[in-house]
Amino acid sequence: MNVKISVGCTLAFTLVDLILSTVLYCHGSRLSSFSEDLLDFNVLLSLVDLWGCVLIRACLLIGASAGVLWNRELGPRRVSQLYTLVLLVSLALGTFALVKLLILSEREGGLTPWFLGLFSWTCVSSLGMVLLWGLLGKETVPGGGGGGGDGGGDEDRERLVDDREKEEEEKEEGEEGLGRRTGAKAGPQKTGSGATLGRLLWYCSEDVGLLSTAFLFLLISAVCEAFLPYYTGKAIDGIVTQQSMEDFTQPLLKLSALALASALAIGVRGGVFSLTLARLSLRLRNKLFRSLMRQEIGFFDANHTGDITSRLTSDTTQVSDLVSINVNIFLRSAVKAVGFFVFMFGLSWRLTLVTLMGFPFIAVVSKVYGEYYKRLTKEVQTSLAAANKVAEEVISSMRTVRSFACEEREADSYYSRLLVMYRLNRRQALAYACFAWSSSLSELALEVAILYYGGHLVVSGQMTGGTLIAFVIYALELVECLESISSVYSGLMQGVGAAEKVFEYLDREPQHRNDGQEAPPTCTGLVEFRDVTFAYPTRPETAILKGVSFTLRPGEVTALVGPSGSGKSSCVGLLENYYPPGGGQVLLDGRPVHTYRHDHLHSAVSLVGQEPVLFARTVEENISYGLTDVSMETVVEAASQANAHDFISALTRGYHTGVGEKGTQLSGGQKQRVAIARALIRQPCVLILDEATSALDAESEHIVQQALGAVMHGRTVLVVAHRLSTVERAHNILVLEAGAVAEQGSHAQLMARGGLYCRLVQRQLRGLEAGEAEVPTAPTGGGGGGGEEEEEERPAWTDAGCGGGGGGL
Ligand SMILES: Nc1ncnc2c1ncn2[C@@H]1O[C@H](COP(=O)(O)OP(=O)(O)O)[C@@H](O)[C@H]1O
Ligand SMILES: [Mg+2]
Repeated sequence: MNVKISVGCTLAFTLVDLILSTVLYCHGSRLSSFSEDLLDFNVLLSLVDLWGCVLIRACLLIGASAGVLWNRELGPRRVSQLYTLVLLVSLALGTFALVKLLILSEREGGLTPWFLGLFSWTCVSSLGMVLLWGLLGKETVPGGGGGGGDGGGDEDRERLVDDREKEEEEKEEGEEGLGRRTGAKAGPQKTGSGATLGRLLWYCSEDVGLLSTAFLFLLISAVCEAFLPYYTGKAIDGIVTQQSMEDFTQPLLKLSALALASALAIGVRGGVFSLTLARLSLRLRNKLFRSLMRQEIGFFDANHTGDITSRLTSDTTQVSDLVSINVNIFLRSAVKAVGFFVFMFGLSWRLTLVTLMGFPFIAVVSKVYGEYYKRLTKEVQTSLAAANKVAEEVISSMRTVRSFACEEREADSYYSRLLVMYRLNRRQALAYACFAWSSSLSELALEVAILYYGGHLVVSGQMTGGTLIAFVIYALELVECLESISSVYSGLMQGVGAAEKVFEYLDREPQHRNDGQEAPPTCTGLVEFRDVTFAYPTRPETAILKGVSFTLRPGEVTALVGPSGSGKSSCVGLLENYYPPGGGQVLLDGRPVHTYRHDHLHSAVSLVGQEPVLFARTVEENISYGLTDVSMETVVEAASQANAHDFISALTRGYHTGVGEKGTQLSGGQKQRVAIARALIRQPCVLILDEATSALDAESEHIVQQALGAVMHGRTVLVVAHRLSTVERAHNILVLEAGAVAEQGSHAQLMARGGLYCRLVQRQLRGLEAGEAEVPTAPTGGGGGGGEEEEEERPAWTDAGCGGGGGGL
């Protein structure tokens, strides 16, 4: 809307307000009322002060209009900043009108239609003033700040905070390229709070029986509780006014019965709600975890483990709390508040009006404070998350931290993040102190007002003492109910926010599905890569494989060699169907790998990875991972094939020894052998060893190689390796360079060609010779010095010199 229009509306309203208030005050056109009231002013009789309210309204609105017209850029912003103040003024005007109503209601014939008209109009126009103020504050010049009233301003502020957070997140992604954007994009668009709540309730529909029971008992308990103060008042009247035992015991008995019924109902309600909570979180976590298990590998590349687990743990907890605790308290308080209000009105409408006068003030204080506190809480959470991130990363990489002696430094960095949080906590504490102070003061003021006016009513015989006591109890309980409603409201909003996050993952459709159906009974193990191109979904602009074609034949061992980062593991990932190829086809027995049934593909193709990951279970469970009903003999056989049986038997509890988190309680070589056994036990027709023997010392590598030599028969084997001894024996060698097959053939053929492979081999041989010269005690292929030797050998394929050699091709 245009500025002029809103100013026009405001001025028209002010004019109508002035005329109408004056007409109502002057009983039509008796202008002498002014002089009479002003000359002989009596607060109990005169109404000129009530008419005076119109002047306050007019001054404020005309001032705001002038300001907005005067400075169209800053004016609206300033107007919107004063919104809360104007709200308070309007409340004060309404309260003043109510006080006048109460005063005049005590006088015979005080409530004339003219007065009632003026009273109603004052209330309505005070409300109108607030609305128009909001309208004037909204008229911002495009690009200017401000917003519709206080709420609007806060929303803007929050959006700014959100934007900043998003920017920071994107900055953090930096190295991870597109990072989580891939994950986020796939999620559904943000829905409204209402829709999310509706969906959550729909989720609870399975428990509709339980929930109805809970609500029934909630209603019973609330109704019973609503009667308690009433009978308390009656009992006190029985003692004080009637002074009869009969009049005292009757209400007391009813009171006890009601209290008992309410206690029973509260118990049932609480129990049933807790049960619903447990059932809901069971369902949510189960569904969420299953949905996560379905996601493609790219999703896990793009999202931090911590983010995902926090959805599983804290967000789901918040969601079930939302339903079981917040909705429970909200409904209970709402039902009770309505009941209390009805009783209060029945006991004394005048006192009820006095009580009502206080509430808006308490509400405004809570709102202002609540918004500030919410913002602080959000900041505290962000800073806590930052601190946790540091702690998590450091603790999970303790060995690296120790090896660089960075303990103190990491502790300092954690401490500095904690300090950020502490500073926010300090502000929070101060805000809390102010809030507690102002809210208890306003409550006190309300109590005093009720007691003062109630005392006046009792003394003037318009009310009994017992009724006043009952009323005071009601008022106090009502305040409590309203407080819990407002506190629960923020919990509800938090829960809805958490639910949105949970639903985002629940609804996420994997971009690469494992829903192939083919499960042919036999597998020959013919693997073909046909002109495969590929880029990781997190970095779609970087081509990793550029038209790779090769064939792995059944019964043959193919070695894949090449400098580090040339795309060897990426080829393996495609064969394992972790990612879909960008172009071309990856075929197993002539069918694209994604058309196979998921479990079928992974029993036919088995992988021993570059960095084998074991689970924190026993050795036996690790070897038989993913299989059911595996006999101990089979496990031992697989372990023996992988040359792991001896070391496993030497462990304190043999096959039942736990391996620790990610297998940290085993040495690198031991881990790798367990991983090889885990692959072999499946009797795969395609076996992939991605640098599987790289962590073994030369001695055990030799033994594993021999064992592998035996199991390789009748299988298709793809070995990604950097050791000459492994590669040499392969039937076919593929040399990968910068995502393309540079050359292929047998060892002899490639050596004869004198290309990249030949250079790499020569470089390695030179490296070996140098190694021997330096470690004279070690025989060829060195016994104990596996670790060092590996370091020496690895550069043969990986260092910059190799790349340089490759560049010469
Ligand atoms: N999950 C991933 N997301 C994005 N890029 C990756 C990912 N894994 C590997 N890369 C990149 O792909 C390239 C090839 O990696 P890889 O196939 O692991 O090489 P290698 O031949 O040493 O096994 C590297 O440049 C690496 O940075
Ligand atoms: Mg690799």
